[in-house]
Amino acid sequence: MKDKIKILNQYKKKTKELNLHNELYFNQDNPKISDSDYDKLKISVLNLEKKYPFLREKGSFEKKIGATPSNKFEKIRHLRPMLSLSNAFNQEDMKDFIKKIKNFLNLKNQNINLISEPKIDGISATLIYENGILIKGLSRGDGVFGEDILENLKTIKEIPQKITSSNIPKIIEIRCEVYIGKKDFLKIGNKFANPRNAAGGSLRQKNSLETSKIPLKYFAYGLGAIEPMIFSKQSEFLKEIVKWGFATNPLSKNIESFEEVEIHHKKIDSLRSSLDYDIDGLVFKVDDLNLQKRLGNTSSSPRWAIAYKFSSEKATTKIKDIIIQVGRTGAITPVAKVEPVNVGGVVVSNATLHNEDEIKRKDIRIGDTIQIQRAGDVIPQVISVETNKRGNESKKYKFPSKCLCGALTKKEISKTTKKEDAVRRCIKGYDCKFIAREKLKHLVSKEAFNIDGLGKKVIDQFWDLKLIREPSDIFKLDFNKIEKLDGWGALSISNLKKAILKSQLINLDKFIFSIGIRHIGQENAKILASFFRSIKEFTKLFDSKFRKKILLNLVELDGIGETQIQSLENFFLNNTNVRITKELAQKLHIKNYDIQNKDGKFSNKKIMFTGGFKNMSRSEAKTIVEENGGKVLGNISKKLDILVVGDSKPTKKKIDQAKKLNIKIIIEDEWNRILNS
Ligand code: IVH
Repeated sequence: MKDKIKILNQYKKKTKELNLHNELYFNQDNPKISDSDYDKLKISVLNLEKKYPFLREKGSFEKKIGATPSNKFEKIRHLRPMLSLSNAFNQEDMKDFIKKIKNFLNLKNQNINLISEPKIDGISATLIYENGILIKGLSRGDGVFGEDILENLKTIKEIPQKITSSNIPKIIEIRCEVYIGKKDFLKIGNKFANPRNAAGGSLRQKNSLETSKIPLKYFAYGLGAIEPMIFSKQSEFLKEIVKWGFATNPLSKNIESFEEVEIHHKKIDSLRSSLDYDIDGLVFKVDDLNLQKRLGNTSSSPRWAIAYKFSSEKATTKIKDIIIQVGRTGAITPVAKVEPVNVGGVVVSNATLHNEDEIKRKDIRIGDTIQIQRAGDVIPQVISVETNKRGNESKKYKFPSKCLCGALTKKEISKTTKKEDAVRRCIKGYDCKFIAREKLKHLVSKEAFNIDGLGKKVIDQFWDLKLIREPSDIFKLDFNKIEKLDGWGALSISNLKKAILKSQLINLDKFIFSIGIRHIGQENAKILASFFRSIKEFTKLFDSKFRKKILLNLVELDGIGETQIQSLENFFLNNTNVRITKELAQKLHIKNYDIQNKDGKFSNKKIMFTGGFKNMSRSEAKTIVEENGGKVLGNISKKLDILVVGDSKPTKKKIDQAKKLNIKIIIEDEWNRILNS
């Protein structure tokens, strides 16, 4: 009997632990133990059941949790992308934000009214109403596709499922942040590290009954799609939706001068701990929706809003050691291994030291007592060294001149600034196994091949077992070997095979981004894809016969500069890179780049500007051309259709060149007339 109780307790302890890791892994995408440790734990539970059948009286653990719980909801394309916000950390950043807005709108001497709202640290969701009826509820997902979590959102009583008002638009999308109150969080036990994770876990439960058990709340903060438009200001929108029954945050405030920005930020920061929800800053938005529309977005965030963060959580600890890490671009980053310390709810044991100069500048030594800070998702940083606490054991750190692979490292000279880079790099590319491993992680990442079930950890596991060394190896994995590994079963292997197969059909821009050429991020990859159009054309870069000429042609692409061209040249000069890219391409079906021929005033037209305009900036003019189906070129060439000459300081040489090539030239008045037509 005594034994039975002991065994039962042991079993309960293990199943509780397993439940926790299931939750962390499947619902929060945030595993805290390695796959093999997870497996050991699971096997020990199943072995106990086998050995002591009485444990199975209430059903086996396997059955209780079902097969692998699925965290997969149906993916639905957002009506408008859900972007993120850029951050400001001090007054200077805020000044910069306002300056950029004024520049973009060419409104130098005019005041721009802002609205400030707390930035709720929860989980974003979007609610779509058709004729006042809630028809869709999506998570943010990757910003382009969200997950259908409507049933879970419906469990939040305060979210209206029907809006009854005489003036509701046919379609309206309300963006909101879902959270758990701090007090409620304390009541639900310690399964989660913080309220944000708890809200995320709960919202992404497959079973909405489980969601309904957790006291979720929300604040509506923004407008997504709307048809017809009935608002002219963000502040007006917030006031109106309260009347419709939505919960909005009571601390939002209209801001009419720059002085108010700081005062309000300080005020809310001081209130922060007394609020029942976590906030990590204030969002400042341009209040006028028309100006918001003119400002538009960059590829990742709106130009009309910024998150002004509160100063971050700090803690004191000690440096045990300094090691170096090699990134996918060869960057050698020093990392301080510190005595584990809790910083705002997260245990930190590593802090980045950025680069050699930073270590010298702050005189950081092994054994030092340091202050670290953790802000949002960024890697913890060292803010200061407490030199008065330095003892005899403190040791100066000598920055290695070699990479972990043994090769010499180099600091590059920037093409544009002619200054030496602060970062030391290994230049071996795929020939350095540390870089190669990181490149593989980049290749499988969400923004690249996005292979479900093949994340960073699995790359490490497969790499250690020599199952993969190069990108093309992903498509010839030895599943007989994988089958025998800890943590892999028939289901996970079948899912992985499917995900790999799916990833083999890829768009040209994603392919270009995935191969990880320095300075070629997502945006530049798109620009290059729109130039090359097909993999056949792109692969001409492999051949030194064509390369020079192609690279010269890239100069005309707006966004591609000397840095990018040099980087492309360096990449393809390396034979290993060429071989690896070729072998990868052979395993794939790479789709031609569809130029989305946007209909509009400038459909298919190539336009260039010279000189400044009176009532809009160059950036706004460029955005207008692109939104109306045209393309902006950076140089005069035969391909150019129109040269637009602004009144303020146009370049005579460009006008002459255009005249010579018989290119249509229009002046500012005419440009304005076209825009207003
Ligand atoms: S406005 C980016 N306002 O912050 C589009 N966002 O980093 C405009 N958030 O995904 C966002 N409180 O989930 C906005 N008052 C607020 C917010 C807020 C929290 C979240 C939101 C968004 C993330 C952007």
